[in-house]
Amino acid sequence: MHTLLEELLNYHRHVTTIIDEIAELNKELARTKSGDIREIIIEMLKSLRSDKEMSHHFNEELIRQALMTTDAPIHGRVEQIANDHAAFGRIISNLQSQCKDQGCSAEELSSVINDYIAQYFDHLEAEETIFFPMADKWLNQEQWNTVQQQWR
Ligand SMILES: [Fe+2]
Repeated sequence: MHTLLEELLNYHRHVTTIIDEIAELNKELARTKSGDIREIIIEMLKSLRSDKEMSHHFNEELIRQALMTTDAPIHGRVEQIANDHAAFGRIISNLQSQCKDQGCSAEELSSVINDYIAQYFDHLEAEETIFFPMADKWLNQEQWNTVQQQWR
């Protein structure tokens, strides 16, 4: 697999650890209703809107756009990935405000977080099983060089 794709995969592993931790805290939230846990979740959600996360999506978009110019049979899920990236930013900022809103019950919050986690994992899986292998197969050296030049 191309080294740039491997770099993206490594980031996925990193973000997966964070999400797994959030999932654990979320179970706790549903059990104890403790305000402290909300605070910790708010902090952890910040790392899902970090500059690193933004650069990751930017880099994936570079590859995705290059892929769209090839003769690859573009799978619907690859087209959907750009929408996912835009949606995740919005979802996370909504989640952060819901966490801060004391009127939002622990149950409500917990179920929104669960939905988010499920969507995020679904997105990672689509990238890893459809998008990355397709890019690896279809992008030529010249295209990879162009991607590399704009890489963040
Ligand atoms: Fe990704």
